[in-house]
Amino acid sequence: MATNTNAASLDESPIPEPVHKQQKQTIDPYNVSGEVGEDGIVKAIDYNKLVDEFGTKKIDDELLARFERVTGKRPHHFLRRGIVFSHRDFELILDRYERGEPFFLYTGRGPSSDSVHVGHTIPFEFTKWLQDTFDVPLIIMLTDDEKYLFSEKRTIEEVQGYCTSNSKDIIAIGFDPAKTFIFSDFDYVGGAFYRNIVRLSKHITLNQARAIFGFNESSNIGRIHFGSIQGATSWASSFPHIFGEDETKTVGIPALIPCAIDQDPADFRMTRDVSARLKYKGKPYAKPSLIHSLFLPALQGPGTKMSASIDESAIFMKDTPNQIKNKINKYAFSGGKVSVEEHRSLGGDTSVDVAFQYLRFFLEDDEELERIKGEYERGEMLTGELKAICIRELQTYVAAFQERRAKVSDEIVKEFMATRPLKWGGNPRATIV
Ligand code: TYM
Ligand code: TRP
Repeated sequence: MATNTNAASLDESPIPEPVHKQQKQTIDPYNVSGEVGEDGIVKAIDYNKLVDEFGTKKIDDELLARFERVTGKRPHHFLRRGIVFSHRDFELILDRYERGEPFFLYTGRGPSSDSVHVGHTIPFEFTKWLQDTFDVPLIIMLTDDEKYLFSEKRTIEEVQGYCTSNSKDIIAIGFDPAKTFIFSDFDYVGGAFYRNIVRLSKHITLNQARAIFGFNESSNIGRIHFGSIQGATSWASSFPHIFGEDETKTVGIPALIPCAIDQDPADFRMTRDVSARLKYKGKPYAKPSLIHSLFLPALQGPGTKMSASIDESAIFMKDTPNQIKNKINKYAFSGGKVSVEEHRSLGGDTSVDVAFQYLRFFLEDDEELERIKGEYERGEMLTGELKAICIRELQTYVAAFQERRAKVSDEIVKEFMATRPLKWGGNPRATIV
């Protein structure tokens, strides 16, 4: 498992400096870096290795075929292209869907800055598509407490302010207000949720927390405890206003958690272990299932993820068309060759080319993507042309988002964040248990 030695002093993964020091690949909620070779160069993240180390399962064609059979829907292009590539117990969620048994979706955001970036929209876009597909309740957690505890400089007022602006960004993805509850930890902790936080924390030792997050003796105790807050959100019984008061029923309702793979080790592997050991009045707790995406790479290359705390690594959803153009032209790591002649004869490397990688995430047309890939790899298309296509696609994506975002008022945020019952249940086979 990836452990790290400096999580306590970092609040987001920095772009690894070209330190001339070998270092293993490190992926956890607070650090994302591919292996650093002897030459000091950061290699692309090796996702296969991650699946082995974490003990998750790769999403294969068989699982996708079953998904299509069960839901009647063609898999999303993230699934078809291996962007959503790994899972834990996703098949159990399909079993439940088939039998009309309840489950819910859970995902979240740590409000560390006033705008989300294009990378954050990946799990949220996918979650929206799952919500439309499965027609189940969705819980979105805003970990304002985490972003206060894991930073030396942010104040509580600041992170609470980011909650409102980040909620507007999230709502602009297009979630259905009747089926979606967004909450901030600072506001919602208490009652049933707090009881679950304490229940979970009682089953995690300091040794386990250290092994998972790499805390040390100087880590503040809030950080050490934080995993139980993110983990307790996986339990339906934390939300009696949505799932009902009767815990003997709600403990059995599992969450499906879409996230990028950085979130896996922490709370969820830990929560799955504790869930397997816990019972409420003789009824076992459901373990959460997970479905993981790759990271949208930083502009600097596929060795790390785009990060909100490093401005030049990211394209923010509030960026203007010009900012998008300039950032891609200036920073996007190119898989092209150094001279035009060499590029024409040898072709470009799409596996490390950031502009191409962004198109894999954002260009929906499979044929168009294949055409671009072929032309670039054969050297028929130059880096400038590839970047121009990427700029156009991202400008279109961000502009459409900004149009929806402008319509999200403070009132709408309040509606999503109100503690209220949700309405769902279009699945004709869903039986009220
Ligand atoms: P945060 O705010 O760091 O990230 C929010 C979500 O975006 C994913 N993500 C990315 N996905 C693709 N490419 C990237 N470059 C990229 N950067 C971030 C994250 O994996 C995450 O899914 N503690 C969490 C908040 C949280 C949460 C959750 C996330 C609470 N409960 C449950 C997922 C599921 C955090 O700070 O996320
Ligand atoms: N019947 C469940 C209870 O009493 C609530 C419920 C019904 C439910 N349908 C659901 C919960 C679908 C989650 C998903 O607790």
